[in-house]
Amino acid sequence: MELSRQRDQALRERAQAVIPGGMYGHESTYLMPEGTPQFFSRGKGARLWDADGNEYVDYMCAYGPNLLGYGFEPVEAAAAAQQARGDTLTGPSEVMVQLAEDFVAQISHADWAMFCKNGTDATSMAMVIARAHTGRKTILCAKGAYHGAAPWCTPILAGTLPEDRAFVVYYDYNDAQSLVDAFEAHQDDVAAIFATPHRHEVFSDQIDPDPEYAASVRALCDKSGALLVVDEVRAGFRIARDCSWAKIGVAPDLSTWGKCFANGYPISAVLGGEKVRSAAKAVYVTGSFWFSATPMAAAVETLKQIRETDYLERINAAGTRLREGLQQQAAHNGFTLRQTGPVSMPQVLFEEDPDFRVGYGWVRECLKRGVYFSPYHNMFLSAAHSEADLAKTLAATGDAFVELRAKLPSLEIHQPLLALRAA
Ligand SMILES: Cc1ncc(COP(=O)(O)O)c(C=O)c1O
Repeated sequence: MELSRQRDQALRERAQAVIPGGMYGHESTYLMPEGTPQFFSRGKGARLWDADGNEYVDYMCAYGPNLLGYGFEPVEAAAAAQQARGDTLTGPSEVMVQLAEDFVAQISHADWAMFCKNGTDATSMAMVIARAHTGRKTILCAKGAYHGAAPWCTPILAGTLPEDRAFVVYYDYNDAQSLVDAFEAHQDDVAAIFATPHRHEVFSDQIDPDPEYAASVRALCDKSGALLVVDEVRAGFRIARDCSWAKIGVAPDLSTWGKCFANGYPISAVLGGEKVRSAAKAVYVTGSFWFSATPMAAAVETLKQIRETDYLERINAAGTRLREGLQQQAAHNGFTLRQTGPVSMPQVLFEEDPDFRVGYGWVRECLKRGVYFSPYHNMFLSAAHSEADLAKTLAATGDAFVELRAKLPSLEIHQPLLALRAA
């Protein structure tokens, strides 16, 4: 049965008139399967309601920010108490110092913290600090890695200049030789190497970092004086309670954080070690809303939950249950899945599905049955994904596989995807 879409459709039409393209960024649904709602009205726990009131178990978690559950009470209470005292004032509130202390205590490589709003603010600030520290220009990034939407890193080039990324050089993730080659070509000029905790580019299998590659990134930085930046914006606190690469014994000089550490309240951060403190002090970085206190209070409470509860173990247990359940159901229906990435951030692709039509077909069937997945982007679990959410999900996905098998001969490639691939 198709879900009602009237209100969503009406909002899309109104948006077309007053918002360029009706919507922008990766939260636009133009690449999602037909029938995916663009507008939402409410979230609670792991559940999401679209503008028409249809309910979903949500596996995108607002593209990451929902770590503990939408509307998680202790975070809401901390935010509300701060909001009542004041949010954006003429300067920061006490809570900024508390948050910096808590963050520095939590993350082993960090001696200081600076706060901003979005992940892009944090990665761009890390780039500027690295250049200030080294007096060099070149930034090494892994091919296909997403670090945000500023001209130096946006994946869509419209409106950018070649000069914006003239000093950004790309290497292959997990390939120590490719990194060394990129490095040697710019030997005396490398300011920073950016690395993500694991390779999580869209439309791809997720790839864990080889500890030898991670160690070689560190060694190259140590030898040359370049800084290692681990971009935790997407994966932060879904792999570890520390910087993700602490798990493989590699400490960055800078790390960038965003999305989830205030459970959905808008704040991001750059953390750094002692040796980079004076460069961080030297650069001019600010924003009218960067010192707003409500998200900081939400972050203090979220970090407390991260420290004191089993939130991560619960996320991993739910992710493991999902992965194993899907594997069994797929096999039972004659499909082979490629499920990659940490179970807390799963990517689900189908074997022998080069144009993604099977994956899109399956996600569409899941959506109709009240489960919100992505066919091309890694997904996210939260600590609120309960037994009941998993049971509802697996009942829906089981039926979706059966329906998919029946519809297999008539599945069509998603047109916007076709256009993107042709471009
Ligand atoms: C690894 C990574 N870095 C940076 C960003 C940019 O964050 P924001 O969208 O908050 O600017 C993202 C966003 O998805 C990301 O995944």
